[in-house]
Amino acid sequence: MDNECKCNCNCNKTEDSRYVDLKAFIDSMSGVDGAAMPILQEAQRIFGYLPLEVQKFISDHTGVPIAELYGITTFYSQFSIEPRGKHHVGVCLGTACYVKGSQKVLDKVSEDLGIRVGETTADGMFTLDATRCLGCCGLAPVMMIDEDVYGKLEDMDAIPGILAKYKR
Ligand code: FES
Repeated sequence: MDNECKCNCNCNKTEDSRYVDLKAFIDSMSGVDGAAMPILQEAQRIFGYLPLEVQKFISDHTGVPIAELYGITTFYSQFSIEPRGKHHVGVCLGTACYVKGSQKVLDKVSEDLGIRVGETTADGMFTLDATRCLGCCGLAPVMMIDEDVYGKLEDMDAIPGILAKYKR
């Protein structure tokens, strides 16, 4: 692959294939209205998160002000400016789950993993989030790990066993 940056920006990122891939995607979106959102989504997919360095790269190559990019990344929960764990744990704090005790679920997960909401474990395995309604209120209280849904979590003693399946 030709790793030469063609933008004359002197960004010195061309030895990192992730930036090469991102630049190719940015180029493919040239002239597309509202391209910032898909570019950020692609950057999140490539890097796993969106540190300021990556946002600055996007800004430099699209002309979109970094303040605007930062506003988007901090507004939408699909984006993260911190490294994410291999597994994403989301405990629903929507109304139906909350009245069924999801705060206790969140506290138990937090205790078991040793992290608070928004944090990632030191080994990079888990990121913990509190979420809005996950759309399965009949199963309240609900927790999702990656794409797996765990409902009716009324027995806090079951939580460590569920998490253990993802620690392997
Ligand atoms: S409130 Fe938790 S799934 Fe709807």
